[in-house]
Amino acid sequence: MIILKSEDEIELIKKGGEILAKVLIDLKDFIKAGMSTWLINKRAEELVKKMGGRPAFKGYKPAFSKKKYPYATCISLNDEVVHGLPSKKRVLKEGDIVSVDMGVEYKGYYSDAAYTYIVGEVSESVKRLVEVTKKALYMGIEKAVAGNRVGDISYAIGSYVKSFGFSPIKDYCGHGVGKKIHEDPAVPNDGEPGKGELLRPGMTLAIEPMVSMGSGNVKVKEDGWTAVTEDGSLAAHFEHTIAITEEGPIILTDWEKDA
Ligand code: MF3
Ligand code: CO
Repeated sequence: MIILKSEDEIELIKKGGEILAKVLIDLKDFIKAGMSTWLINKRAEELVKKMGGRPAFKGYKPAFSKKKYPYATCISLNDEVVHGLPSKKRVLKEGDIVSVDMGVEYKGYYSDAAYTYIVGEVSESVKRLVEVTKKALYMGIEKAVAGNRVGDISYAIGSYVKSFGFSPIKDYCGHGVGKKIHEDPAVPNDGEPGKGELLRPGMTLAIEPMVSMGSGNVKVKEDGWTAVTEDGSLAAHFEHTIAITEEGPIILTDWEKDA
């Protein structure tokens, strides 16, 4: 069931989304080689709380898991696609790419966003993977217009990514968000235009392209959470929470603007 939100509700999601965006912006300068993913998680958790938000992933039990997630963030390194566990043993090195995915609850409303950071210098092809994944998110958002269908978003993301020889990850999707972290509808990262749920004003969606340099097939590690590419190829992930309005899509987690 899709839950439509009023303008006031969208405002509350935006308040939390602004907190979340500030955290992801802060990490652009904070993340450096030699740092553990545990420290990044600690920083993000502290900042969210300081700004009056609650880290929404911590203690959350998603449909795909039997257990509650124990951390404020998911941090996924290199061939890890999503749901990587922050760890003191995972230390960043020059040339890594690392995504931080976080949910924030503010006054009962949820936002969800992710950003992939480049650690030091990387090759042109890795830069392109990260840039194409980010651009794919905006290509998808552009199609998040009332009267379109979910498939229009999916197709925009998937076709753009494939035009560069990269693969959209099909096992993980974007989703409705707002009253809960995960709501209907699912928003796949590839699909057919004109198919799927009709988009309507008041819908709030987390759009989140995950893209690999290789086949796009993934498997879950023994920890039960971390999704890695089957072929070991690098993967990137960007995510925004957006609202569909009569006037078009509004980004509620704008991590692109200046801090
Ligand atoms: N942002 C993640 C997603 O939409 C949510 C992770 S839930 C957690 O898939 F419990 F794994 F944190
Ligand atoms: Co999400």
